[in-house]
Formats: sequence, structure tokens, C-alpha cells
Amino acid sequence: MNILTFDSGDKLNEAGANIIAGLIQTQPTAVLGLATGGTPVGIYERLVSGFRRGLLSFRGVTAFNLDEYVGLDRQHPQSYYSYMQKHLFAHIDLPAEQAHIPDGNAADLQAECERYDRLIAEAGQIDLQLLGIGHNGHIGFNEPAHALIRGTHVVDLAEETRKANARFFGSADEVPKQAITMGVGTILKAKTILLVVRGADKADIVRRALTGPITTECPASLLQTHPHLVVLLDKDAAGRLP
Ligand code: PGA
Repeated sequence: MNILTFDSGDKLNEAGANIIAGLIQTQPTAVLGLATGGTPVGIYERLVSGFRRGLLSFRGVTAFNLDEYVGLDRQHPQSYYSYMQKHLFAHIDLPAEQAHIPDGNAADLQAECERYDRLIAEAGQIDLQLLGIGHNGHIGFNEPAHALIRGTHVVDLAEETRKANARFFGSADEVPKQAITMGVGTILKAKTILLVVRGADKADIVRRALTGPITTECPASLLQTHPHLVVLLDKDAAGRLP
């Protein structure tokens, strides 16, 4: 595990964007696993800026997002489809047919999960998976549980997660109750995992995930078993590490 701590959000964003851009420059057909939420916004901004300056092209890239809400219209401003358009996809040259997000409105959600796993398998291994972490240790929407599921599946969101995401909606009641998420098996199969965390409110979960026992009750703790885990932290998120 390689942990890098930054004293400013800007430097963290720059480091995250440089890792992703470096991969695309050396491997133009890279397969990326992408994340949503507040954490990666600044990294995406820098990637867009790199594209606009002609420093990188996403033409050969294939991307798979971690998750999507169930039952939220794709055009809803808080769908992860809208998020990815707003923060990245609408501004770069990644062909739409190479940008994958689970369809949370599929008539048959189980079939949609199977389709998503098939697409990931056909693309080969995910070269780099970008991840944030929830306050309860979730990765993607794999919530703490007695057992975790390997592949893409429908999940009931934890109340804590719905409360945390209420800031993007009008209230917690408006946050969907379910999501489709990539499973931990798929996440852990990525060649490199780039975990990005910022903020003092995440300092406890960062310590538990990176130094605590490996347990399904803290899904991010499974990342300790990954051979190529890179962790980017701002100094607040790193504040409780030994
Ligand atoms: P955040 O979410 O980036 O909005 O904090 C991270 C997560 O829940 O995985």
C-alpha cells in the first residue's frame, strides 16, 4: 500500500489526475473504473483541463462507473449518469459507447447486473479503479454486511449513506433506497486501485479501513489485501493514522 498525504486539496487533485492521465498516456486503451460523489470532482476538473490543453485523449479508453441509483430517471440531476456528464463525459472525447454506467431503470435489474458484469469481463481487467469511501467504510455502494457480494448487484442503501447523500438532494427522503453497484470482487480485481479521501470527517474510517481488522463490516478494509493500492489523502483525512 502506498499512502500519499497532501497539505492541500489542489495538490491532491493534481496527484490524482496525474496518475490517471499518466496511465492513459502510456496506455491509450486503458480500462478505467470511475467513481462519483464529492471526492473526485476536482480530479475530473483537472482531467478535463488536460484534455482541453491537448495533453490527453480518451478516445481509446473504456470506462465503467461503480454504481447508479435504482429508479432515478437518467436525466435527474442527481443520477450518476447526469453527474458523469456534468463533471467529465460531456467535456472530453470519450466515445459514449465506451462509457458505461449501470442502468438503474432497467425493467429487469438482475439481468442488468449480469449484463454489466459481462461488459466488464469482455473489456478485460480494469486497469485503474478510482474509489472514494463512505463514512461507514462502503466502497462503491457495497455497504457493511456479514457477507459481501462479488459481482454487480442491487443493494439496499444504508440509512447512513442516504443521510450523507441527502446533501445532494432536497432531503434524505428523496435519496433512492436502492442502487446497483459493482461488487467487491470486481473492484479488487482491478490492477491498480486509487483510493481518494479528503476531510476530517473521514479520518476515523480511513484509520479503520487502512489499519484495522479486515472485515466485511468495513468493506474498504478489504483493500488492504490488494497488491497495488494507492491512497491519496488530504492532511485532515490522514489525521488519525498512526
Ligand atoms: P463522497 O462519497 O465522495 O461524496 O464523500 C464517497 C462515497 O460515499 O463513496
